[in-house]
Amino acid sequence: MAAVAISNSPRKRILLDHDWRFIRGDPPGNAGSLLYDVRPQAAAGRGAPPAPLPPDPSERVIKSWVLPSGNDFVNDPAKRIKRPPGDPGESVAYITATFDDSSWRKVDLPHDYSIEGPFSTSGGGGMGRLPSAGVVWYRRNLSIPASSTGKSLFLDIDGAMSYSEVWLNGRFVGGWPYGYASFRLNLTPHVKPGGSNVLAIRLDNPPASSRWYPGGGLYRNIWLVETSPAHIGQWGTYMTTPEISPAEASLNLRVTVDNDSLKETNVTIDTRIFEIDMNDRRIGQAVASIAPVDLKITAGGSTTSVMVGTISHPKLWGTGERQKPNRYLAVTTVRQNGTTVDTYATPFGIRTLKFDPNDGFFLNGEHIKLKGVCNHHDLGALGTAINVRALERQLEILAEMGCNALRTSHNPPAPELLDLADKMGFLVMDEAFDQWARQKTALDYHLIYQDWHEQDLRAMLRRDRNHPSIILWSIGNEVGEQTGGEAGAVLAKALTDICHEEDPTRPTISAMNSASAASPFTSPIDTVGLNYQGAGLFRGSPQYPVFHDHFPGKFVVGSETAATLSSRGVYTFPVAPGLGVPASANAGEEPQNRQVSSYDLYFAPWAYSPEKEFAAQDRYPFVAGEFVWTGWDYLGEPTPFDASRSSYYGIIDLAGFRKDRFYLYQSYWRPDHPVAHILPHWTWPDRVGQVTPVHVYTSGDEAELFLNDRSLGRRKKAPFEYRLRWDDAVYEPGELRVVAYKNGMVWARDSVKTAGSASQLLLSPDRNSIAGDGKDLSFVTLTVTDKDGHMVPRSMNPIRFEIAGPGEIVATDNGDPTNMTPFSSRNRNAFNGLALAIVRAMREQAGTVVLTAKSDGLREARTTITVL
Ligand code: GAL
Repeated sequence: MAAVAISNSPRKRILLDHDWRFIRGDPPGNAGSLLYDVRPQAAAGRGAPPAPLPPDPSERVIKSWVLPSGNDFVNDPAKRIKRPPGDPGESVAYITATFDDSSWRKVDLPHDYSIEGPFSTSGGGGMGRLPSAGVVWYRRNLSIPASSTGKSLFLDIDGAMSYSEVWLNGRFVGGWPYGYASFRLNLTPHVKPGGSNVLAIRLDNPPASSRWYPGGGLYRNIWLVETSPAHIGQWGTYMTTPEISPAEASLNLRVTVDNDSLKETNVTIDTRIFEIDMNDRRIGQAVASIAPVDLKITAGGSTTSVMVGTISHPKLWGTGERQKPNRYLAVTTVRQNGTTVDTYATPFGIRTLKFDPNDGFFLNGEHIKLKGVCNHHDLGALGTAINVRALERQLEILAEMGCNALRTSHNPPAPELLDLADKMGFLVMDEAFDQWARQKTALDYHLIYQDWHEQDLRAMLRRDRNHPSIILWSIGNEVGEQTGGEAGAVLAKALTDICHEEDPTRPTISAMNSASAASPFTSPIDTVGLNYQGAGLFRGSPQYPVFHDHFPGKFVVGSETAATLSSRGVYTFPVAPGLGVPASANAGEEPQNRQVSSYDLYFAPWAYSPEKEFAAQDRYPFVAGEFVWTGWDYLGEPTPFDASRSSYYGIIDLAGFRKDRFYLYQSYWRPDHPVAHILPHWTWPDRVGQVTPVHVYTSGDEAELFLNDRSLGRRKKAPFEYRLRWDDAVYEPGELRVVAYKNGMVWARDSVKTAGSASQLLLSPDRNSIAGDGKDLSFVTLTVTDKDGHMVPRSMNPIRFEIAGPGEIVATDNGDPTNMTPFSSRNRNAFNGLALAIVRAMREQAGTVVLTAKSDGLREARTTITVL
């Protein structure tokens, strides 16, 4: 992905983010006529329309026109699909250039049409209770100047949810079913330079297609790319660095040049290498260059060439305290008869990866424990519409916790996430699929696996393989084929082979929750990824040593762990002993409120508390680390309360507020960072005189707890113990204070005080100045406090947010999985003392935004944000 722009390049890459029109549904009389393929009737859920079934599938489905869009990713020429004659949809009003769409809604991209709600209270909660299912259309005029005559023009769609079908000027261009795939369509044959050009995109998001909130719409960026006929192809560079020493790194650059003209051509390509900074700016002069090569390319053909070079004293890409995420940029120039016809930027990093079956993961020779989280793709109240600042905030908060790795569960992420991971030094497990040919939900990916898995996997690999952050290719999550005997292993091998063909530098993994070590599934996959069963399913025996013994040559990692459940600021009594129990009405749950206790001792029936995984990691040092389910809460899959809207699994809640667990992971993942964190809060007027256990998460090894300055005892962590507990503490109002020690020295402190009644509001923006680009955000935390400024921990006061100046409130939230107020509302009750307002600056405006929060009977709060 050439995310870095080059000025003066004949290549233009224009972001198509404004001036779109949007409508739900097909035009009257055309419902179902542009269906991609026949599909089974599915339980629609949540009142969504049932999946349409055309009466005559052979005539009306348009799959044969869509399939050719993936031809570049099908290796066997015999399997590439020839486009049938004619254009599907010719008679459908919305695709005609002359159709008047002025009554359609104006929208900007990225756009998730379903995040505005409303939430539905009927049907299942798995997909987030938002209206994501159905057909929608987008239209936009494209202004293509006469000077574009003779150029090649492409539409690059980073992701569209889902079953995209695209027309330009009434002609069918192509499409792509998988909503997480990035793809390119060639507009050149249909474009009218100097004239009016109309793009029409139909999406069809099936119900029952996902186990989490898929979002809906053109939710990632869309680019118009213009090149000369001779140009570097889509994702046409692939940089590897096979030999790395302190003195020198070898560069191996594979470049594919396409020739869209009707004549054979000769080109010369050369490449210069620059260092780049966090903002993708080049630092100084070129530090290396790759000698020019001459290529001959047939008319309408493409040629791939490998070029080699070296770079002296390479600055390695890395993570952690001792390494930095240094990056380089390869700028490749294509010349035809001495004239530059294309330049293409390839950011990359130089690093060595070692996957050791006995000792885990090594980056540049340094052992790095994978302290990872799984995350789904939504951005909470913002939905799935990609926003770089929202993603960056997610990663910043994770980094503060000591997290150094991400699993893009369970699909290819937005390219911007990988750019951020490269810049911020996260290690990534890039995951392709949540299912193969065996279904998990009625209309999920299994319907298209056969036709599309090769294209989708190769597209992900070619798009992502230059990212230094990526260390593992995950070919699937808990696919049904795990237990499918030899047949499952055949698919696992086929997908692994594809990964090896596209990128021999990284191993494959598949996240397995039920394959046994003796089953054939694991053998063809390069590494072992265990979901839950590694540490042992609840009451199950740990499978890490079993797999390790069975596959002594394979690297082992906890690809999904913990699945602990909690609601921020909720505590139930009595508190489970030991490592806890599955959440139930008798243990950890508040069924009447649909909340789960934050003692972090309650989990899904197959799962366990964080500490069980920590102990397994410490007992079996060959395990390379873990990916916790999940870093952030996400929309959908609201286990154990299906009636809710969002998950309880996150270490961080949907609004971005840290749950207690944040400090448990921080204390384990950042042992050198002084952490002491007390739970629960200490405002329990209804518990005076009752046992109210106090637990402390600390990176120290012992701690002393004081209640109103009386010592409740000094406790030390036993081996394989990761929290300190005073289970016999009896509540009385006042102050709880902890002093943590490490090696006998004072290491960290924390205290909590009993709060008085709610008296005032406090607003704290995460950033006081933001860019006036219509995208940048400030996340403003609202806290309900008593008169002395202490958070009132169980306050649920209704808040009204107001805004003045060049900004808007795009969404509000409070992290409560049961809260059904639409995210766009400015009215939001606090949830256990906190609420969030997300402020976006208006485009091309500057000045001061004033955000006010009001609640009856409380002193209002006001804050300002400067728009630059
Ligand atoms: C796993 C699955 C995840 C999520 C999780 C909840 O088995 O891979 O997608 O469903 O369970 O615990």
